[in-house]
Amino acid sequence: MRVSGLIMAASMAAGRLSMRTQARLPKCLRRLIPPSQPCRAAGGTVATRPEAAKGVQRPDLQVVRKSFHALQEERRERAERSVLISCSPKVSEKKLLKFLSQHGNVSNCFFYQSYGVYAVVEFASKNSIVGLHESTSLPSMHHEVSVPFKSRLLTLKTNGSADQSGGSNSVEFHPQVAMPINELLQQLSAEESVDQQLSRLTSALQLTEENVSLRFLVCSLVKDVAAAFFPKCTVHPFGSSVNGFGKLGCDLDMFLDLDAASGNPKRKPSGFYLEYQMKREASERAVTQSVLSVVAESVEQFSPGCVGIQKILNARCPLVRFSHQPSGFQCDLTANNRVAMKSSELLYVFSSVDERVRGLVLAVRYWARVHGVTSSVAGAWISNFSLTALILFFLQTRGPPILPTVDQLRDLADQSDQCCVEGNDCTIVSDLSRIRLQTNTESLERLLQEFFEFYAAFPFNHMSINLRKGKEQNKPESTPLHIQNPFEATLNVSKNVNAAQLDRFVALCRESAWFLQQEAGSKPATVPTGGSAQAWGLAALFLPSLAQAAGVKGRRKKKREPASERVKSLLQSISTSHSSQ
Ligand code: GTP
Ligand code: MG
Repeated sequence: MRVSGLIMAASMAAGRLSMRTQARLPKCLRRLIPPSQPCRAAGGTVATRPEAAKGVQRPDLQVVRKSFHALQEERRERAERSVLISCSPKVSEKKLLKFLSQHGNVSNCFFYQSYGVYAVVEFASKNSIVGLHESTSLPSMHHEVSVPFKSRLLTLKTNGSADQSGGSNSVEFHPQVAMPINELLQQLSAEESVDQQLSRLTSALQLTEENVSLRFLVCSLVKDVAAAFFPKCTVHPFGSSVNGFGKLGCDLDMFLDLDAASGNPKRKPSGFYLEYQMKREASERAVTQSVLSVVAESVEQFSPGCVGIQKILNARCPLVRFSHQPSGFQCDLTANNRVAMKSSELLYVFSSVDERVRGLVLAVRYWARVHGVTSSVAGAWISNFSLTALILFFLQTRGPPILPTVDQLRDLADQSDQCCVEGNDCTIVSDLSRIRLQTNTESLERLLQEFFEFYAAFPFNHMSINLRKGKEQNKPESTPLHIQNPFEATLNVSKNVNAAQLDRFVALCRESAWFLQQEAGSKPATVPTGGSAQAWGLAALFLPSLAQAAGVKGRRKKKREPASERVKSLLQSISTSHSSQ
């Protein structure tokens, strides 16, 4: 691309460049664009902001979403009246529903495939499950003996002449995992603009209603095991399963809530009263460890479908990890983890304020995962939670802001929202309709570009991220990355991140910002003969060649070649890796 074209593209993306914006541009562009200069399009007219010209739709603030608690409670209650049934791959939905309807009305049913075919069946009434259980047989075994724990994980069997199959009327399977990356890149490359690519990415990755229902059902099945000891307990999903930022295939974080089970009466009656005799432990942590240990044993011994149980009880937050085979979920069960529940609510509120938030978070999370900025295992790298905090903070700093600060959410709260966990004020507004912000019409494409620029130039060495205030502040400690925990102000959620991993993130941000401004960031004019579209825009941003160009593959950073050479080799590597797929 010629330098004049480069300037124009960058200027159009940036609008009027303040000193601050200029400082955040990739270095290669900073030299070229003077600050506070109205950007001029070809022909000398002042360019309008590209998204305004395209008439970007303002997110509909009138759509009022349910409060976190109302939605959680509704889903939990639906899961309580649901069962999970393993079926034949040729099962007929009609025959299955007819068979089940003898126990009551079925209000919802869907199928999925995961090492076999399963139906998630939701009855209109919980009583139907009692009837269903009464008519369900014990498995007949020749060489083994079954453990007589009657769960809501069942198998549809046929007897005599009965046939499960629906002939040519096969059932529709709802995907429970994200599509393979090659297929996703193909789909993205077929879109017309980066904005369209971002919206395609969101719909391809985000959790479906069915997947969320399955997550609540798995929690409900685990609750049935724990309820043998703590009859009034609940198991809540938290983290990305419920915070609005989950991607198909993400883990299932569960919180075993014993508070309802312990049920202390509010006031001691005058005169006689009875008190439970209970075992004592030295600390809250020790109680959590022993409760989780016993529940882990029970899940392992009794709960069908739960395998590979690991007790990780000495972690900062003790947990039990296992796989739930019928759903394919990797589960992390914790207890006494209320702040994490509250963080999930906070993220849910942020994801509900504006539809661009989820789009940006999913895109940046995907970008970070494919380039190894984040990982599914814990280590010295940025966690998804920290990365999400970085994105949310960036959105708080837009002008006008796209997200409110945590303090603003607290100020909007009413009496019923008051919440204090372990001495920390975790109050935030639950009524989402109270959150009103000035209109910001930036397109998602622009936000992605600006996100990369923002962090390519963020002064991480001396500043910290503060979501409570929506402002950067002086770092209170010398860790490479400091993100103040919004609900536990003295904690740094990114304490684990080392300097090398932070540098890697910054280098990739710089490269990505630069890359989106180049030709490879726009759809190629010609489609190559032979069919499949060439990776461009978002799709090209996910190719390994980007990390190589950023010099972050464990080798020392190469000296920058002139821009045109770099673009040439980048495009070459994109088409090479594309043709090898
Ligand atoms: P995925 O990678 O999709 O699983 O994202 P996630 O948000 O579910 O992250 P993860 O499973 O690692 O953690 C689950 C939840 O625990 C998060 O959403 C947070 O609420 C909480 N959490 C995770 N890491 C931290 C941390 O470092 N500090 C605090 N305060 N909470 C954390
Ligand atoms: Mg998680």
